[in-house]
Amino acid sequence: MARIVKRERSSPYPVTVGTETKYICGCGLSGNQPFCDGTHKIAKDEPAAKVCWYDADNIRYAMEDTFPAMPLPLE
Ligand code: FES
Repeated sequence: MARIVKRERSSPYPVTVGTETKYICGCGLSGNQPFCDGTHKIAKDEPAAKVCWYDADNIRYAMEDTFPAMPLPLE
């Protein structure tokens, strides 16, 4: 089963507990979830108004963003 999750963030969330800071992936591309592994760098120059996705080799694909808002769930 496949699943599409739309994320617009292209940087990690810093989380500090005590004196230790960890970086939580905000882009969804990390190979070390939930932690950032730096892969977000490939998303920095994504074209505006496009939806991008990446294959297992981090090759980018893009198409027009025709789904700017998530639809409501089916009833
Ligand atoms: S924020 Fe996702 S890999 Fe860094």
